[in-house]
This record gives sequence, structure tokens and C-alpha cells, in this order.
Amino acid sequence: MPEMILAANWKMHHTLDKARGFVRELLQQLAELRKPGEPSVVIFPAFPHLAAVAEEAEGTRIQIGAQDCYIREEGAFTGEVSPTQIADTGASCVLVGHSERRHILGDSDELVAQKLTAAIAHGLRAFLCVGETEDERASESSRSVVEAQLESALTASDEITAGNLVIAYEPVWAIGTGRHATVADAEEMTAVIRAKLIQRLGAQSGQEIPILYGGSVKPGLLAGYLASGLIQGALVGGASLKASSFASLYGEMKTAAQGAGSGQ
Ligand code: PGA
Repeated sequence: MPEMILAANWKMHHTLDKARGFVRELLQQLAELRKPGEPSVVIFPAFPHLAAVAEEAEGTRIQIGAQDCYIREEGAFTGEVSPTQIADTGASCVLVGHSERRHILGDSDELVAQKLTAAIAHGLRAFLCVGETEDERASESSRSVVEAQLESALTASDEITAGNLVIAYEPVWAIGTGRHATVADAEEMTAVIRAKLIQRLGAQSGQEIPILYGGSVKPGLLAGYLASGLIQGALVGGASLKASSFASLYGEMKTAAQGAGSGQ
């Protein structure tokens, strides 16, 4: 059974004070995050807050990740941040290919593949985001779009294992819109992703890589996505900004993780 993961993508939100305060409040509400266990929790703050959030989370189960990374280790690349610099802050994960990077900031499939390769080569766990736009869904090409995004990223690195990759299926039309995918649609795309992972990486890694759903996930919705066990967690934007709402989502994840652990 793949690891279950609840991840918070804070995007360009929070001040430093708020970012630190979130972690303190979350640890007050969920004291169990001070001990090992499932589900895993990962927070993706903005670059300038990585080290401070990592410091607040030290010694707890909360892992920290960056929202993007550059493809080189160092050099004259003004404004970019390397995987080594990210790891240096205490972060252990990185988002690659988030739809806002692909569609607003112009990251191509090729660049996403290079970022994934660089992240993994430097010991970070890559959270690769894939998903179709509304037009692509309307023209029934969701499957081919997501397969192509995966194909290009998965063939770029030969160091991928179940421990250093997570896939987040995030339909672009569902991100930040309040229009989440139906459980059936999310499960259908998850099956496409799982088949591609197995085809490219073999049965062992392919079965163990967690697949998350993302796109307008809110408290009360998550349990539905997790019920069948096909989806192993969520990447949450808007509903991850308040500790109370993130703690509710964690509660839904935990119930699902316990159900999975008892073979239900
Ligand atoms: P949302 O964002 O939960 O606000 O839709 C999800 C994401 O962008 O990862």
C-alpha cells in the first residue's frame, strides 16, 4: 500500500509570521504530529519561508518542500533556486510541474522533466503535478495529455524510486475554482497514472508511488476521494492556509489511513 500523504501548497501566500504561526497552531491542534505515523504531512511554503518553517517543524512529522526548483546546482541564473539550496534550508521535497508553473509561468513538459531529474539527483522527493485543462477535458484528451506529461517526466531520470516520487493529479480547471473533480473522474485518471507508472518503472515502484488528488479539496470532500484506496492523499491549496481547516483534512486522512491499515 503506498504511503498516504496530506500536502499543503501555500503558493504565494502568508507572511513569515503567519507561516511560522501556522506550524505552531497545527502542532497545538495535532500533537500527534510530534510522533511518527501516517498520514505523512508535507508543507510547501514560499522560498523565503522555507528555513523558518523547517525550523518550526523540526523533530515533528511535518516535512517541508519548495514549490519549484531550477535544473542546475549553481551558477549565473538570477532569481532561480537550486535543489541544493532547497535541501540546505531543511526542506526535503519539491513540487515540479504545478499547473500554475506550466500555464502561467510557461514551464514546458521538457523543463518539468529536467526539474524532476535535478530534484531527484540532489536527494529531494519530487511531487510531480499533472492534469488536463478544461478544453482538453472537453475534447476528451485528458488521458493522452496526462500520459504525455508523465511519459516525458518519467523517462528523464533513471533514479526514480517509490521513495523519491509522488504524483499529484490536479485537473487545471479544478484548481482554485471551487469545482472539484468527481470521485469517479479522479479515480479514472488515477488508474491511467498508475498504469503508466507500472509500465515505465516496473510493478514494484509503480505500485508504491503515492498518487494524490488536488483541485478545490475542502474539509468534508477528502474522505470520498480516499474511500476506495486508489488515491493516497491530497495536494491542497486554498483549504491548507488555515491550520484549523488543514487539521480537519488531516482528520479525514487519518480515518482513511486507519481503515486501509485494518484492511477495510
Ligand atoms: P486548490 O489548489 O486546493 O486551491 O484548488 C490546489 C493546488 O493548486 O495544488
